[in-house]
Amino acid sequence: MVKVAVIGYGQIGPTHIDAYKQLDDVEIAAVCDLDEARAKAAQEHAGAKFCTTDFHEILQLPDIDIINVCIPTYLHADLTCKAAQAGKHVFCEKPMAMRLEDAEAMIEACERYGVKLGLGFCRRFDNQWLKMAEIVQSGILGDQIIWRAYATGRGAPTPWFFDKELGGGPFVDGAVHNYDFAALMFGKVRRVSANLKTLRSGTTAKDTGTAILDYENGHQLTVAWSWALPEGVRGAGSLEVFGSKGTLCFTNPAPEVIQVPEGTHALYVSTGRNAGQAFPYVRNNMYVDELRHFVDCVKSGDTPKVGGENGVNALRVALAVLEADATGKPVELA
Ligand SMILES: NC(=O)c1ccc[n+]([C@@H]2O[C@H](COP(=O)([O-])OP(=O)(O)OC[C@H]3O[C@@H](n4cnc5c(N)ncnc54)[C@H](O)[C@@H]3O)[C@@H](O)[C@H]2O)c1
Repeated sequence: MVKVAVIGYGQIGPTHIDAYKQLDDVEIAAVCDLDEARAKAAQEHAGAKFCTTDFHEILQLPDIDIINVCIPTYLHADLTCKAAQAGKHVFCEKPMAMRLEDAEAMIEACERYGVKLGLGFCRRFDNQWLKMAEIVQSGILGDQIIWRAYATGRGAPTPWFFDKELGGGPFVDGAVHNYDFAALMFGKVRRVSANLKTLRSGTTAKDTGTAILDYENGHQLTVAWSWALPEGVRGAGSLEVFGSKGTLCFTNPAPEVIQVPEGTHALYVSTGRNAGQAFPYVRNNMYVDELRHFVDCVKSGDTPKVGGENGVNALRVALAVLEADATGKPVELA
């Protein structure tokens, strides 16, 4: 059995526990949260033998193989570096850190102590998004592809997410998934432009606006997000992908256009009047699949598909978005 300790039981910690519980070769041996009631709830949820409010106690446990980091972003580096030093493999939630120096220190510590570092870019394990990447890379949409990602809501419930030093707001915390996935689909960013605002009161991070990322190969990502909707107002969001030859639709096509078997999910590419192609995929639980992959890497010695380098790249883009907004000038990243 691979023995895991889950540190942090806020929003995402319970999701990781649910996912690990589906892996037959994993025991959640220890849990931790600074908040005692949450630590106890985590223990009950996970069925873990050991429970504490101080993660240093967990780092002393000789039989823990993986430290699973689900605490606020600004604390990732401290825990990751200490876990590596204690000889534990680390699976850390995204964004990797708030500062590039911290992210680089995490990579350095994991390399120095010979442990694996996996990052929670769960969309890399989402079959729907992976199908999108396959379609983009197939060329069916043409070149010069535009990916627009819109999301409005109230954002995360905990205040640190809205502090520019601690969580960075949606253009660091949320859109980092898009920056990372666009790296998979499009490659390297050439230029970043952004126009952001803070609509919520009492917060320091930019919570609303638009960032435009131009890639070296001519593709473009536009992220238009807000985490500033008033309490109770319904959020919305959508993804649009199109290129010179067609559009990718995220809902199953109308039956008169193309038949998709009952219960099948498909992305549909429209390439002309009543012309197109359906690309079926099987819906999956991306959290189970990302943790399955990381545990497999720990067991086999393979390098995780998503690691420190991806975390640094996505963080660099996020910081460029903030800089472009602050200076009012595009940031060249080539
Ligand atoms: N991949 C995803 O889909 C996804 C979704 C949500 C959050 N996240 C990321 O996961 C991380 C955690 O986010 P969250 O929403 O769960 O945050 P949260 O604020 O809801 O929960 C964090 C928990 O960590 C605990 N904590 C804080 N410091 C601690 C410490 N030193 N030791 C032990 N426990 C400590 C807090 O008491 C709290 O219970 C963030 O980096 C966030 O960006 C990822």
